[in-house]
Amino acid sequence: MALEAIRAILDVDTGVDDAMAIALAVAAPTIDLVALTTVAGNVELEHTTRNTLRVLDFVGASHIPVYQGMSRPIDRPLFTASHIHGSDGLGGADIPESSRSVEAISAPQFLIDAARQSPGELTFIFVGPLTNLAVAVALEPELPRLVKRLVIMGGAFRMPGNTTATAEFNIFADPMAAAQVLAAGFDATWVGLDVTTKAVFARAQWDALETATAPNAQIVRKAGAQMFLTFNRPVFQLHDPLAVAVAADPTLVDAPEEAVMIETGGDYAAGQTIIQRPGREEGWATKVAKTVDAPRFGTFFTATLGLS
Ligand code: BDR
Ligand code: CA
Repeated sequence: MALEAIRAILDVDTGVDDAMAIALAVAAPTIDLVALTTVAGNVELEHTTRNTLRVLDFVGASHIPVYQGMSRPIDRPLFTASHIHGSDGLGGADIPESSRSVEAISAPQFLIDAARQSPGELTFIFVGPLTNLAVAVALEPELPRLVKRLVIMGGAFRMPGNTTATAEFNIFADPMAAAQVLAAGFDATWVGLDVTTKAVFARAQWDALETATAPNAQIVRKAGAQMFLTFNRPVFQLHDPLAVAVAADPTLVDAPEEAVMIETGGDYAAGQTIIQRPGREEGWATKVAKTVDAPRFGTFFTATLGLS
């Protein structure tokens, strides 16, 4: 069945899998990528913005504007994942500098302006901490009604976290932002570790790209190097690319509506994403991806990026 065309804004904390998500969103024929917004997360904001600009330029998308957002979470110090993504965020990947700059207005203000200009038309795809969106909602509480759909890479709903025993990185990095976005009432789909850990790119697939010259293949090759060569992982988890793919094709996941709560404090469980038991009153109704058609996602990823 043909996919419906969407107009999307992608919010990133670029990051190795964010880099691949950017390439995927640019290349996907049914995604009209209006703009990117950047946030601090995997590394500091100056790096996530720098990486976003150079990845866009590298894949031939210098025309897509970039809006820089928040440099730290709502109510806690910045917590990065530079031990995974490297101090520059891309594991030292050799990607040329961009000569262009970010736009003059901030990411939260841009999100509001864009949604007001095209009410009901835009899909927001968020693959970093949710700080920019929480700030935007605080400034414009009607934002959830102005946006068509929100797809979030975040959460560990029915499994342990990847940052603490209970929390996934994007939610742990700014639990207050995530809780505020959850409560805001978007038509949201949460694409958490439950499904993204099943969306993997194997070492053999990465090895096969050694002599690839096309920019999309080179982004996957360069951004994947840290995971495969430094950490010697057998597979690379395509967290953020899966969220982009779900924005383009919602049928890739089964995402039933659940009542969800997010732990914003506590000594041990900050950032935990909790599915409420049936019949209880607490919790916000939202869609949570439960299963993924991983082979079909794999085909979407490789075919869209021209890897096979
Ligand atoms: C998420 O955390 C980040 O490190 C990745 O870019 C991804 O968005 C996975 O937990
Ligand atoms: Ca990310």
